[in-house]
Amino acid sequence: MREQLNNIKAQAEEALSSVSSIQELENVRVKYLGKKGELTAVLRGMGALSAEERPVIGQLANEVRQFIEDILTKKMKELAEAEKRIRLEKEKIDITMPGRTRSFGKRHPLTQVIDEIKEVFLGMGYQIAEGPEVELDYFNFEAMNIPKNHPSRDVQDTFYIDGNVVLRTHTSPVQARVMKTQKPPIRIICPGRVYRSDEVDATHSPVFHQIEGLVVDKGVTMGDLVGTLQVFAKALFGEDTKIRLRPHHFPFTEPSAEVDVSCWSCHGSGCRVCKGEGWVEILGAGMVSPKVLRECGIDPDEYSGFAFGLGVERVAMARFNIDDMRLFTENDVRFLMQF
Ligand code: DAH
Repeated sequence: MREQLNNIKAQAEEALSSVSSIQELENVRVKYLGKKGELTAVLRGMGALSAEERPVIGQLANEVRQFIEDILTKKMKELAEAEKRIRLEKEKIDITMPGRTRSFGKRHPLTQVIDEIKEVFLGMGYQIAEGPEVELDYFNFEAMNIPKNHPSRDVQDTFYIDGNVVLRTHTSPVQARVMKTQKPPIRIICPGRVYRSDEVDATHSPVFHQIEGLVVDKGVTMGDLVGTLQVFAKALFGEDTKIRLRPHHFPFTEPSAEVDVSCWSCHGSGCRVCKGEGWVEILGAGMVSPKVLRECGIDPDEYSGFAFGLGVERVAMARFNIDDMRLFTENDVRFLMQF
């Protein structure tokens, strides 16, 4: 039995010297020390020993068990450390590796222009108003003094949803919506999309943007309109920019004007941008018609107001020297990144 125990000791030592994983280590432990292990088997046979031999063999068996357990513990520690080292090696982060660059987008040139114009008017105490793009015929036309069969309906080729509902052809209906729900003093601008069934070309699109402006208060005059537009033109096109009003006709303003700014490119002497004119038309404006005020529940004997509507694409093309409106909607990043 002594010999058996010494064999177990030697074999276990041998087996443990070559284990290379925690799993192998566990296999060796089970083989020698487990319930059905070799050492356990020897201990079971101890009943057959004499009373003198039993304690001696018992002690030897304990020594062998202790010997194997010590190696197991030591090995276990070594293997656990080795595995940890390998894991850390794998997880190592190479801080010298080049980072992934994140490409930033930018605001669309039209959005930039709208934001800039908003800033100018917010600075003058205006509020931002909104209205629906799918609009009632009533607000788009009737309330703006454009009755059925009025010739100016032809100028604004309209997408009809049905007899009473249209895609708004201008932002002017927001004037009526605001006047019907707010009491003067009113000072708003409304940026938004508008629709006309136009063929697409360099200067036309069935979808484009306008910014409507409306001021209603006691004693508002044409002088206020001109002053306001001057501030706006200088802020957008530079301090030396002049404006010019040409008489025009809109059904919802009286008097009405088309407004030009002096050409930012040639400063008035005439060039390709202004087609030799020295001036570029950017908006329509006028004093709000008493008919419109009355229709919207405001007494024209007590209040007066001015309004204007500008084409955002036109201003952006002017601002950035863009000669084709289609570029705004083609989503070519090479174009968009330039602004
Ligand atoms: N709604 C007009 C258009 O789309 C532009 C316009 C002209 C708006 C004069 C106004 C204005 O508020 O007073 O052609």
